Amino acid sequence: MVERIEKKILITGAAGMLGKALISRFNDRFCVIALDLNPVKENNSSIVFCPADICNLDALNGIFHKYRPEIVIHAAAYTDVDGCENKTELAYRINGQGTQNIACLCKQIKAKLIYTSTDYVFDGSKGGAYREDDPPNPLNVYGRSKLEGEKAVARTIAEYLIVRTSWLFGAGGKNFVDTIIDKAGKGEQLKVVNDQIGSPTHTESLAQAIEKLIGHIFQKNKRNAYGIYHITNSGTCSWFEFAREIIDLSKTKAQILPLSSAEFARPAQRPAISILDNSRYNEIIGHSLCSWQEALKQYIVKEKGSLR
Ligand SMILES: NC(=O)c1ccc[n+]([C@@H]2O[C@H](COP(=O)([O-])OP(=O)(O)OC[C@H]3O[C@@H](n4cnc5c(N)ncnc54)[C@H](OP(=O)(O)O)[C@@H]3O)[C@@H](O)[C@H]2O)c1
Repeated sequence: MVERIEKKILITGAAGMLGKALISRFNDRFCVIALDLNPVKENNSSIVFCPADICNLDALNGIFHKYRPEIVIHAAAYTDVDGCENKTELAYRINGQGTQNIACLCKQIKAKLIYTSTDYVFDGSKGGAYREDDPPNPLNVYGRSKLEGEKAVARTIAEYLIVRTSWLFGAGGKNFVDTIIDKAGKGEQLKVVNDQIGSPTHTESLAQAIEKLIGHIFQKNKRNAYGIYHITNSGTCSWFEFAREIIDLSKTKAQILPLSSAEFARPAQRPAISILDNSRYNEIIGHSLCSWQEALKQYIVKEKGSLR
């Protein structure tokens, strides 16, 4: 039986793709407070559901002071990368000011904060894997607004972890894996960019990694281990290679063609190479996350029930 720790953990973005994986990871071990615009209630669950907008400081204030969580994982965000380009003000309000609100309240109630951020804070021009201390230079509004959130966390609170991750896929959210399987299932011909390189990451792998960081750093109070971490599944690929693996692993048959970013114009520019160097996490925890191919296999078997 899993030992239940009566610590309270508040998860923002609880109805989102990562939020759902975090809730199922922490529900056994912590008292979970799930915050989102519209958190989905589960019957017979001990989770406390709090509908709230992270931009509404008064509403947040009431929740933080009522429940006084020891740890906050802030995963709520405006995540539509292309949508951010013409909803700039909304992107900065949610990803910047909303994160500032969360950080201020964590400071007030002395909660430790984990903020999830993105590989899109980098411009991709390094040509190799980015370390935590490489200078960010986002190419799009989403990346700039998430970087605003990072700065708000770092200037407001001392006990924080910023976890940058990339190319998330997982249950209960709009993601690339499901899109490819759906389109392939309809017999559509797929065209996917082959000149953007990164690391696909399963939300369950990331939730497990965050749990390990909490155990190693917060529960043992290793203050010198606070700061930024890059955490992704191991290995790298292009979106085209990722799509080809999805088609190979799922029982779909589809024709897939490589495309350049220039041929597939989108409102938001993306970095060409946004690989995140995971060494800091790997050294602290003692091992790396499994490969993205292995994580993808697990996801397809669990969610789609089949493998070729
Ligand atoms: N997805 C990726 O590939 C990726 C890559 C790198 C980093 N990240 C980061 O990882 C985190 C989780 O991403 P995700 O893919 O799980 O995102 P997601 O599925 O879009 O979930 C985000 C959740 O936040 C909620 N939300 C948005 N605005 C809010 C507000 N003002 N107040 C309260 N809740 C609000 C959303 O509600 P609505 O849906 O109702 O708006 C949604 O339920 C984010 O910080 C993201 O920036 C994601």
